[in-house]
Amino acid sequence: MSKPTRDHYTRTAIALHWLIALLLLGQFAFGLMLDDIPRGTPDRGLYVNLHKSSGIVIGLLILLRIAWRLKHTPPPLPAGMPAWQRTAARLSHVALYLCMLALPLSGYLASNFSRHGIKFFNIVRLPPWGPDDKTLYAFFNGTHHVAALLLAGFVGLHVLAVAKHMLIDRDGLLWRMWPRRSGRGIHPHPELPVESR
Ligand code: HEM
Ligand code: HEM
Repeated sequence: MSKPTRDHYTRTAIALHWLIALLLLGQFAFGLMLDDIPRGTPDRGLYVNLHKSSGIVIGLLILLRIAWRLKHTPPPLPAGMPAWQRTAARLSHVALYLCMLALPLSGYLASNFSRHGIKFFNIVRLPPWGPDDKTLYAFFNGTHHVAALLLAGFVGLHVLAVAKHMLIDRDGLLWRMWPRRSGRGIHPHPELPVESR
């Protein structure tokens, strides 16, 4: 098991970051695609249940990632980073984690306030534990919609911030979250002092 170093996340954190990023991208596109399937058709039930099932699996991976993160302090940010950027980095990471939690949770809660419940991968029926309540369903479905939009917005900012670090600051930030290859330098400025986050 790898440990976070002065300039690198652990292998597990890196694997979970990229796996979840890819899965969320696919799940997001899948969610948008659901809008094109007419309501009341057998296809709709089939695909909605697939979306719910993959969403639950992704939600469990997100919980695993958060548990890992709570036990492993990330590498400290480069000391040269201005205070506002450190605050922005921390806040945007918290916002990403909150959206990552809110999306599967709101989808799961909405599904349990509908008589349809969840048919896990269209095989195992998980009967709803809540009543068939249109108001609660609409509330959690609305939260799901807003959380999806917010996540897309924060991921956009996140990617722009990484691009700024790589292209303007040239501090090699991306390599902190990239699988380490033996012999490759990770931080282009290893002489830069680092500070604790
Ligand atoms: C894990 C990440 C998830 C992502 C990124 C995601 C994303 C999306 C998106 C983008 C939509 C379309 C939004 C809209 O048009 O309002 C959607 C719809 C939906 N999602 Fe998710 N979802 C996730 C997890 C879940 C889970 C775990 C469930 C339920 C267990 C779920 C249930 C639904 C349902 C039922 C709809 C259709 C809502 C409707 O058309 O009325 N989602 N999702
Ligand atoms: C769905 C997409 C994504 C999500 C939800 C996401 C989420 C996150 C979160 C929450 C962190 C903070 C890790 C921590 O310290 O706890 C992080 C770090 C990071 N992400 Fe992403 N990310 C996504 C996509 C990307 C992409 C596309 C890139 C590349 C352009 C990227 C590059 C990075 C880098 C370099 C870090 C480390 C930042 C640092 O050293 O402080 N991420 N990501």
